[in-house]
Amino acid sequence: MKVGIDKLHFATSHLYVDMAELAVARQAEPDKYLIGIGQSKMAVIPPSQDAVTLAANAAAPMLTAEDIAAIDLVVVGTESGIDNSKASAIYVAELLGLNRRVRTIEMKEACYAATAGIQLAQDHIRIHPDKKALVIGSDVARYGLNTPGEPTQGGGAVAMLISADPQVLALGTTTSLLSADVMDFWRPLYHTEALVDGKYSSNIYIDYFQDVFKDYLKTTHTRPETMTALVFHLPYTKMGLKALRSALPLVDDDQQKRWLAHFEHARQLNRQVGNLYTGSLYLSLLSQLLTDPQLQPGDQLGLFSYGSGAEGEFYTGELQPDYQLGLDAGLPQRLARRRRVSVAEYETLFNQQLQWQAEDQVVSVADDPHRFVLTGQKAEQRQYLDREA
Ligand code: COA
Repeated sequence: MKVGIDKLHFATSHLYVDMAELAVARQAEPDKYLIGIGQSKMAVIPPSQDAVTLAANAAAPMLTAEDIAAIDLVVVGTESGIDNSKASAIYVAELLGLNRRVRTIEMKEACYAATAGIQLAQDHIRIHPDKKALVIGSDVARYGLNTPGEPTQGGGAVAMLISADPQVLALGTTTSLLSADVMDFWRPLYHTEALVDGKYSSNIYIDYFQDVFKDYLKTTHTRPETMTALVFHLPYTKMGLKALRSALPLVDDDQQKRWLAHFEHARQLNRQVGNLYTGSLYLSLLSQLLTDPQLQPGDQLGLFSYGSGAEGEFYTGELQPDYQLGLDAGLPQRLARRRRVSVAEYETLFNQQLQWQAEDQVVSVADDPHRFVLTGQKAEQRQYLDREA
């Protein structure tokens, strides 16, 4: 039985900042951000969006009444959680109007957690093939204004429906894993922004990719050239390019050229959004599938998931005949329609995020066009609005 990704949909905010403009404001060469980091635009997440609303906005447009009736597992992978106890998946399930006979959990392991959700969902569907699982990676990437990590911020959510006989990608059941205690990036409970040793985290990322990729090839007796394309977690798009380059010596010149050409499609949309932590690998998958005309049903894709701290996983999927039908086809147009904000406006929005304090707070939602928005906090409870309810 084939099990895998049946549908894939993305949400971010309606705002972005231009990376060349941000570079000038930070006294950096624009090419450092555009080429050296590999980002052109960065999503600016207003205070009216958080991990819950982004997740609900990502999932709602792709779900049919039949999907909603079949979903009995919802996993939200996030490191931008809004509560230390209650799972964001409960808010998301409620906003989406899901069946109450559903298992709702939040998973955490930096940028890796959505992959853990997919693997849990895959196992679940293999036992219950008549059911469907909703897995969402949703985050707001925040390093802070004027920090080295600032040009690698962004935010958004990727929602994936996992089912039997999937339309998009049938997942392999063998994966390679690596997990060890590494302090490359973490966020103590009292911090709103991540602590990161950026250069170290980039090196660990490559080490983990090399380790799990080679382990996968060895344990499955797979030749690397059988993989049409490699898709990476993209905290910034140059990171994936560095990892890909580290694998090129394993294949001949022609395959190297093909992998590099496919990668340009895989990073096209991430280049316009920035980092979204848990969702980044899956936005790259969406980018690959939406923009790459060289892909064909039956192609094998290799996926590398990485979460600082650190955990890595390499696994594969086979492209299905009708894969285009399960994709968020309107995404490139939606990204093109976003409003550009100045660096000053981005800084104001960054500082207006809902405060971690007990007092009631009101968030202006007038400028936010999305269906699900955060309107503030009352009696220490976040207030969410579904504009179609
Ligand atoms: N034109 C072209 N490239 C330029 C350039 C220019 N004018 N100026 C600099 N660059 C290149 C550098 O050579 C470097 O490329 P390289 O990495 O291939 O050597 C790149 O731009 C970045 O420059 P660098 O000086 O290393 O940037 P930085 O010290 O400001 O930090 C990060 C970059 C990614 C480490 C930082 O943004 C960060 O900490 N991000 C968060 C952590 C992260 O995303 N980790 C990834 C693993 S999860």
